[in-house]
Amino acid sequence: RAEVVINGSSSPAVVDRSNEGFKRNIQPASAKWRHNQTLSLRIRKQILKFLDAEKDISVLKGTLKPGDIIHYIFDRDSTMNVSQNLYELLPRTSPLKNKHFGTCAIVGNSGVLLNSGCGQEIDTHSFVIRCNLAPVQEYARDVGLKTDLVTMNPSVIQRAFEDLVNATWREKLLQRLHSLNGSILWIPAFMARGGKERVEWVNELILKHRVNVRTAYPSLRLLHAVRGYWLTNKVHIKRPTTGLLMYTLATRFCNQIYLYGFWPFPLDQNQNPVKYHYYDSKYGYTSQAGHTMPLEFKALKNLHEQGALKLTVGQCD
Ligand code: CDP
Repeated sequence: RAEVVINGSSSPAVVDRSNEGFKRNIQPASAKWRHNQTLSLRIRKQILKFLDAEKDISVLKGTLKPGDIIHYIFDRDSTMNVSQNLYELLPRTSPLKNKHFGTCAIVGNSGVLLNSGCGQEIDTHSFVIRCNLAPVQEYARDVGLKTDLVTMNPSVIQRAFEDLVNATWREKLLQRLHSLNGSILWIPAFMARGGKERVEWVNELILKHRVNVRTAYPSLRLLHAVRGYWLTNKVHIKRPTTGLLMYTLATRFCNQIYLYGFWPFPLDQNQNPVKYHYYDSKYGYTSQAGHTMPLEFKALKNLHEQGALKLTVGQCD
C-alpha cells in the first residue's frame, strides 16, 4: 500500500525561501498529469480524522447566541462578543451540507496568474474557490469569473477598501459584495483580534442592503485541526495560509482539486519577476508574517507529483 508522502522527506521540513528546486519541475497544464483517485480518497479519510469541512466551514446558529464571549484563536487573551448582526448571519445549516463536486478550482492570489490565460479553464470547474475578495472582472482572461466561495480576512477591508473611510469606499465594497451573487462569503471572524469592527461593518452592509451572499464563519477548532493534520504529515506550519486552509477543506467535498495562483516566489519558472498578488500595482515581495508559504508549496508540489491535486503554475492551453 503506497504511503502518502506530503513533506517529501522523513526529516522535519526546512523552509526553502528560494525557488530553487521548483523552477523546472512543475509541468505546464498540458503535460501529463493523472489524478490519483485512491490517494485522494485516502487523504480525505485522513483529514476527516482532524476536521470535517461540512461542520468546520462555519459555526451554526444553534451553537452561539448574541452576547456570547469568544476568545480569539491566535490571541487567547482577547475576546469578542457575538453581536446581533453576526448571529443573524450565521447559517442554520452547513453551506456544504451533502455537497460533492467532480472538480474544484482553488484560485490563490499569486501574480503568476497574470498572462496565464487560465480564466476559461478555471471557470469550467464545478466549484470555484477564491481568496480574500480578489478582483476578477479586470483579470477575467487569466483568473476567470465563476465564484462559488470566496474568503475575506478582515484585513481586506483595510487593504483593499481603505477601511471604508467614505461613501465611495463603502459603495465599492457593497458593489463587490453584490457581485458575489449568492456565493458563499467565508469570513474568519474569530482568528485574530483587530478585525472586529471590520467584520461588523461588513455584516451591517450585508444586512442593510440585503446582499445576496451566504455567509460562513469558520469554526473555532478549524485552524488547530488543519495544523494538526499537516503536522502529523511532517509539514510544520505555524499559521496555515488561506490557500492551504481551502485545499484542506476542499478534500472533503471535491473529487479532483486544481490549484491556480499558488506561487510564493519572486521569480517564475523562466526567471521573470512575479507580483506577490496578481492585482498588485507594483512588483515587490515581502514574506508574509507568520506564514511559511514556500514550505506549504513544497507539500502541495509533492501532492501534485503523486496525482492527489493538480498545480498549474504556468499558462493554460
Ligand atoms: O490570506 P492570505 O494572506 O493567506 O492570502 P492571499 O495573499 O490573499 O492569497 C491567497 C492564497 O494564495 C494564499 O493563502 C496562498 O495560499 C496563495 N498565494 C501563493 O501561493 N503565492 C502568492 N504569491 C500569493 C498567494
